Amino acid sequence: MSDPTPFSLEGRVAVVTGALGLLGRQHCRALRDAGATVIAADLDHDACERFAADAGLAAGQGVDITRRTAVERLSDSALARFDRIDVLVNNAAVNDKFESPAASAELSRFENYPLELWQRALDVNVTGTFLCCQVIGAHMARRRQGSIINIASTYGVVAPDQSIYRRPDGTQSFYKSAAYPATKGAVLALTRFAAAYWGSQGVRVNAISPGGVEAGQEGHFVETYSRRTPLGRMAKPDEIAGALVFLASDASSYVTGANLLVDGGFTAW
Ligand SMILES: NC(=O)c1ccc[n+]([C@@H]2O[C@H](COP(=O)([O-])OP(=O)(O)OC[C@H]3O[C@@H](n4cnc5c(N)ncnc54)[C@H](O)[C@@H]3O)[C@@H](O)[C@H]2O)c1
Repeated sequence: MSDPTPFSLEGRVAVVTGALGLLGRQHCRALRDAGATVIAADLDHDACERFAADAGLAAGQGVDITRRTAVERLSDSALARFDRIDVLVNNAAVNDKFESPAASAELSRFENYPLELWQRALDVNVTGTFLCCQVIGAHMARRRQGSIINIASTYGVVAPDQSIYRRPDGTQSFYKSAAYPATKGAVLALTRFAAAYWGSQGVRVNAISPGGVEAGQEGHFVETYSRRTPLGRMAKPDEIAGALVFLASDASSYVTGANLLVDGGFTAW
């Protein structure tokens, strides 16, 4: 490689959606540490500003990625302040959370799964990613430079093994829904579409598919998931960072349309 620091993001401006979540905060810190000017975007504007100030990021900005006008506002404010956007991390997504743990197995069964939850997952995970790609990717294509990273999931590649969500007494805590894998599979297809569409205009589009990240889940779940994973454990929240900086930077200058699995080998067997 001719560039002595191909992983450096000095002088690059990066937007991260879902920046207030478990992984979004880590993505922001990783890009900041690589030298990028980072804009943290999530639903709550004030919380984004507070997080940006605490984490030493350039800015925090409220956005609902399901609304095109809100995405345009995010893009316009970033361009007004920083003049360019080089990196877009489409990380915001919804995953099932049921109000009542007691009812969650029944509600999450495929046969009963509420249509509103299916539609909400499509809105945020697919339409939201589409809108951010469309608005911010168009700016990148005009400048003939940019890297878009869509955060997908192992479940966009393989089906959920529902036995992972079973308690030691054999009862099911919940079923992983069809909505999550279907939306993440769509994100992977959109990634390949946009990579092919913008390849000649210098915009690279790739996906990262993380495996399960340990975040205070019940012990039996962590144990079962770990046994199902060649590296024998779940991911730590900061273990996506290396792949992210690689795809954001010139170190991956010949990589587009790829899906980088960061899953401890979960999909390898
Ligand atoms: N945590 C995991 O184990 C895991 C595994 C594989 C993939 N992923 C993927 O990684 C990404 C981040 O996951 P996470 O665990 O940090 O999730 P999280 O729930 O902690 O964070 C998601 C963030 O997205 C934001 N968000 C939701 N709807 C939004 C909208 N309409 N507009 C803007 N922001 C919105 C939420 O406010 C939240 O801060 C997601 O795409 C997820 O599917 C996570």
